[in-house]
Amino acid sequence: MLDIQSIMSEHSGKEGALLPILHDVQGCFGHISEDHIRAIAEHLNLSRAEVHGVVSFYHDFNSKPASLPVIKLCRAEACQARGVEALVAPASERARGRVQIASVYCLGLCAVGPAAMVGKNVYARLDETKLAALIEAIR
Ligand code: FES
Repeated sequence: MLDIQSIMSEHSGKEGALLPILHDVQGCFGHISEDHIRAIAEHLNLSRAEVHGVVSFYHDFNSKPASLPVIKLCRAEACQARGVEALVAPASERARGRVQIASVYCLGLCAVGPAAMVGKNVYARLDETKLAALIEAIR
């Protein structure tokens, strides 16, 4: 899983980096904490109030950890090459409000991706049908 520094480095130097960083932090940690806001503000040379304003404006961002069950879906390079990005929109739609789909970056199952993790269980070779079944099973 990425840490906050890795997420910020990934978007470093890109124009309009704030929203992509916030989306990745939300996806990775399930929420955007005050510590995250402080680090992001410092990294982007913004005030904490500016970052806070964006976090509170968008409903996609939570400042507290969600109490929903979480599926950690790998969106790193090998899983991207195996089609994970096409699974994200339908899974997010199916999960909406009942299960949190969090992005993680490598679960060590690169050869059998797309991969996901729920609690300590890992799931490999996911397709839309298998991911839908996983969402239904844990909600
Ligand atoms: S890239 Fe997805 S498990 Fe390694």
